[in-house]
Amino acid sequence: MNEILETVAAAAPEIRAGLPDRRRYADAENPSGERQLAADEYADKLLGDRLTALGSVASYASEERTDVIESEGRYHVAVDPLDGSSNLRSNNAMGTIVGVYDEPLPAPGRSLVASGFVLFGPITTMVAAEAGTVTEYVLEDGNPTIATESVTLPAEPTVYGFGGRVPDWPAAFADYAESIEQELKLRYGGAMIADVSQVLTYGGIFAYPALKSAPDGKLRLQFEGNPIAHIVETAGGASSDGARSLREVEPSDLHERVPVHVGNESLVDRLEAALGESRHA
Ligand code: AHG
Ligand code: MN
Ligand code: MN
Repeated sequence: MNEILETVAAAAPEIRAGLPDRRRYADAENPSGERQLAADEYADKLLGDRLTALGSVASYASEERTDVIESEGRYHVAVDPLDGSSNLRSNNAMGTIVGVYDEPLPAPGRSLVASGFVLFGPITTMVAAEAGTVTEYVLEDGNPTIATESVTLPAEPTVYGFGGRVPDWPAAFADYAESIEQELKLRYGGAMIADVSQVLTYGGIFAYPALKSAPDGKLRLQFEGNPIAHIVETAGGASSDGARSLREVEPSDLHERVPVHVGNESLVDRLEAALGESRHA
């Protein structure tokens, strides 16, 4: 595990321990215009300090910060300090996402050399894609122990989770969702990484699609879409913005949003076919 992922793993116990007293809203908004929790700010500050102190880090970017912090190393790190932080008040799962790019941000996902997420569930785990393999670690006091050597999506899909409100889904996605609902079981919990963990474990698809009210969807390419696409594709699955792999999207803005669909390749192919038809209709 490279030192950047190790540093994120080592910070997990302190982030988790800091959650109970930080369930309140801070009085600031993040660059995406969303209200920040005290926990978002706390996790971002802790990770920013630890990661910029590493010799290998050239810059640190966060969903919670407008600008990038420059440093002198080689890798450009993008972090979602707390993904699913709205689950804190309801005490449901959430976690941290980290992407390690080897070019300045914003960067396409194909330049990721490592990606990981820490999941604060009943157990604190880290799932990381590095050197063509996805590994699951149990984190005890921030120390990683391998739990699953090589995570691969089950061939047979079982679960699905789609974000946004049904009336806000464009017709083509709503039709696709209707066919998926006949086949799979609903698993949607409001934190992408917890829902993606279900897909990695049981097979299926997670999507936060383009909405009528938000054609670019809700999730951010640099901090959420790319790292999760890297993990799911490395685990044998596929990702799409509706037309191509998320990792092929050429970004123009650090905080740009993108429709996110990740899971079994067969399900992603069906999605692109469904949306593709609608584009020509
Ligand atoms: P974050 O807490 O980092 O803003 O991420 C929340 C995201 C993602 O984790 C989740 O899939 C989605 O927001 C849930 O959105 P809804 O509340 O609209 O379901
Ligand atoms: Mn998030
Ligand atoms: Mn977040």
